[in-house]
Amino acid sequence: MPEVVEEFSRFASQYDSYSIIQAQVAKTLVEMIPFGHQTTILDIGCGSGMVYKNIMELTRSFDNFIALDFSPQMLALHPCATNIEKIEADFNSFHAFKNISLGEGGVVLSSSALQWCKDLDFTLAQIAQIPCQVYFAIFTANTFKTLHQVAGITSPIYPQSILKDTIQKYYHASFETKEYRLEFGSAREMFRYIKKSGVSGRERKLTYKQTKALMESYTLNYLEFEVLFVKGDIFESKTT
Ligand SMILES: C[S@@+](CC[C@H](N)C(=O)[O-])C[C@H]1O[C@@H](n2cnc3c(N)ncnc32)[C@H](O)[C@@H]1O
Repeated sequence: MPEVVEEFSRFASQYDSYSIIQAQVAKTLVEMIPFGHQTTILDIGCGSGMVYKNIMELTRSFDNFIALDFSPQMLALHPCATNIEKIEADFNSFHAFKNISLGEGGVVLSSSALQWCKDLDFTLAQIAQIPCQVYFAIFTANTFKTLHQVAGITSPIYPQSILKDTIQKYYHASFETKEYRLEFGSAREMFRYIKKSGVSGRERKLTYKQTKALMESYTLNYLEFEVLFVKGDIFESKTT
C-alpha cells in the first residue's frame, strides 16, 4: 500500500476532527462554483465527504455525484445516497478516470488532495480527458514554510509556480491563493496535529530525536498553510 494511503487511513475515523483547515478549504472551493443545475459532479480525493456536505448545504441541484478516493476507509466514511457512486481508484494510475463520463454540465472538483500527485502533469493529463470545467484547491510548498526552514527540509509538495504552469498546460485557468494559520496551545499539540491531519503525508521522515529537536527550535505557536484555488476551463481542442 502506498505510504500516503496509510497516513490517511490510519486516522480515518478521527479524520474530521483533525481537518479544520481542509474543512475551510472545501467550503471556499464549493462557494466558488456558480451552481446552476449540474448533471454529474466528480470529487477527486473525496475523503469523508467534506465537499459533498458543503454542496448539499448550498444546493441539491445535481443529478449524480461520483466520490473517488484510493482509501477504502475514507470512502466508507463518505455519505451514501442513491445518486452517489463511490469509486476506489488511485489518481496516479492510468485507469482512474478511464470509464468516467460526466456529460454536459458536469464538473470536476478536488479539494486538498492533488498536492499528493506523484506526477502532476500525468494526473492532470488524465483528468483533462474528461471535458469539463474543474475546480481545484491544492496545498502548496509554502505549507509549513517556517517549519520546513527550521528543519532544513524541502517541502514534499509542489510550489505554486509548478502548479500554475502545469495546470495551464491543460486548462484556461484563473488562480487565487489563500494563506491560513492554525494556532496551538503547545508544541506537542502542534506536532500531534501534523501527524494526524494527513497534511504531512510523505514527510514522516524525521526520527524521534529530530522531531524533538524541531519542537524545541520552532518558536511560532501556529502552523502555516497555503492553498492554491483553481478554476479551469478545458481547451476546446481537448474536447474533440
Ligand atoms: C486531505 S484529504 C482531503 C479529503 C477531502 N477532499 C476534503 O476536502 O476533506 C486527501 C484525500 O485524498 C486521498 N488521496 C490521496 N492520494 C490519493 C490518490 N493517489 N488517489 C486517490 N485519492 C488519494 C486521501 O485518501 C484523502 O481522502
